[in-house]
Amino acid sequence: MDKNFYITTPIYYPSAKPHMGHAYSSIIADFFARFKRIDGYDVYFLTGTDEHGLKIQRAAEKKGLDPLEFCNVISKTFKDLSNTLNLTNTDFIRTTEERHKKSVQHLWSELEKNDDIYLSKYSGWYSVSDEAFYNEDEIEELDGVKVAINSKSIVEWIEEESYFFRLSKWQKPLLDYYEKHADFISPESRKNEVISFVKSGLKDLSISRKTFSWGIKVPNNKNHVIYVWLDALTNYLSALNYPEINNELYKKFWPASIHLIGKDILRFHAIYWPAFLLAAKIDLPKKIYGHGWILTGDEKMSKSKGNILDPIKVIDEYGLDALRYYLIKEVSFGNDGNISQEKLEDCNNSDLANNYGNLCQRVTAFAIKNCDGNIPNKINFQNDDLLILNKYNDNLNNIRKNIDNQNLNFYINYIVNSLFEANKYFNDQEPWKKKDDQERLNTIVYTALEIVRKISFLLYPIIPESSLKALKIFNISENEINLSSISNNEYLIKGNYINKIDILFKKIERSND
Ligand code: MSP
Repeated sequence: MDKNFYITTPIYYPSAKPHMGHAYSSIIADFFARFKRIDGYDVYFLTGTDEHGLKIQRAAEKKGLDPLEFCNVISKTFKDLSNTLNLTNTDFIRTTEERHKKSVQHLWSELEKNDDIYLSKYSGWYSVSDEAFYNEDEIEELDGVKVAINSKSIVEWIEEESYFFRLSKWQKPLLDYYEKHADFISPESRKNEVISFVKSGLKDLSISRKTFSWGIKVPNNKNHVIYVWLDALTNYLSALNYPEINNELYKKFWPASIHLIGKDILRFHAIYWPAFLLAAKIDLPKKIYGHGWILTGDEKMSKSKGNILDPIKVIDEYGLDALRYYLIKEVSFGNDGNISQEKLEDCNNSDLANNYGNLCQRVTAFAIKNCDGNIPNKINFQNDDLLILNKYNDNLNNIRKNIDNQNLNFYINYIVNSLFEANKYFNDQEPWKKKDDQERLNTIVYTALEIVRKISFLLYPIIPESSLKALKIFNISENEINLSSISNNEYLIKGNYINKIDILFKKIERSND
């Protein structure tokens, strides 16, 4: 079976510092990358920055900087954020890199070779903020200014010579493709949105600009730069060394397993990108998943609205794992979600500090005191023990299936229930009352330690740092974490020394407590 997994985040515009919305996409992608890795997959996880186009050129001009100089500075803040978020990305691509330019120009030539490009004139609406062309019916007037209905970003009228991609020609093949590949666009609601847009008719797409220069040049016509979305989308191929399709990376990881994106950029990924690929005779990615937005108040967080939340500040205050856990648990995946300080504190205090942290502490402390500091030797499982232990095995394939369907809600609920059951098991078994029956006491302790181990494995993709801290109890290191082993009820080596660990999560004092 193919055990390669290629996951991508959108490449972010380095027009301003990263905010919580960017952090969200990256954290979710990292969750999937880590999950697949512990499930034995070879994972390629790509993120990066999208550095060309008018939006960036104008942002640089505002600061009085050359665009590349400007990008160097801001792209670095995105790269730094990847480290702060503890992302396990394999690569960080910048569209100003030579490897990418080569790849984009090659793709252009392929499209041209297949007669999918022609020269004409564009006149219509353009939003620099979205780097998108809009039809008349996608525009409205707000306070005397023309804006795009969906994004509310300002549009300007442009008229210039432009190369076009024959998008209209791909309307039928795209609809056929969506029908044959029911999973290609997820979640279902986004798929329906895309299908109805395509059914309403596709116009040819302008894919070059002539009135500014910050971009990749059109091969054979240096007066034009390639439309920033055709440039940006190609990053998913450039990272695998396209056009050298016989190289190891490309052979192993293309087509991508999943492009994880925000719902704002669905049209580009679910219509334009597959059309370009079909035209260039390149396999299509297996899935496009459009997640919801992080809102502040009722609005999408964005620089232009001035309502951004800085992930670094939240991490400084609450810690990275509390933020990762919160975003994965409280933002119902696929839908929009709000950042609420109160809920973040609840997650930290109740799920992480009380249910997980406390479980690890009390089981280890009891084991160290009552089992000579070692993982107990003489054990004899009874029904109660096997009942709780076997649940992990019984659910393993179900967990995998749900993750393959991006059902994060299932995964997090499974963990929350497991933590509840684990604490209940330890309370109900009352090992402190079994001091005259060492074998029973040992068995309860062994079972509880096994549960701590299994839950820590499952928590690793969500809160990697804390999970690894907990696994120090057993001297288990990162490369030993392996999902299949949660079905093993006797993974822990009897007689091994148990390590005491520091408190995993500090409770946050509520200001109004
Ligand atoms: N550069 C393009 C993407 C090119 S991909 C080939 C772009 N960049 S962006 O920086 O504006 O946004 C990228 C992504 O960041 C969004 O698609 C989304 O995944 C994430 N988010 C940005 N703001 C967000 C929220 N407020 N909430 C959640 N995610 C959002 O578009």
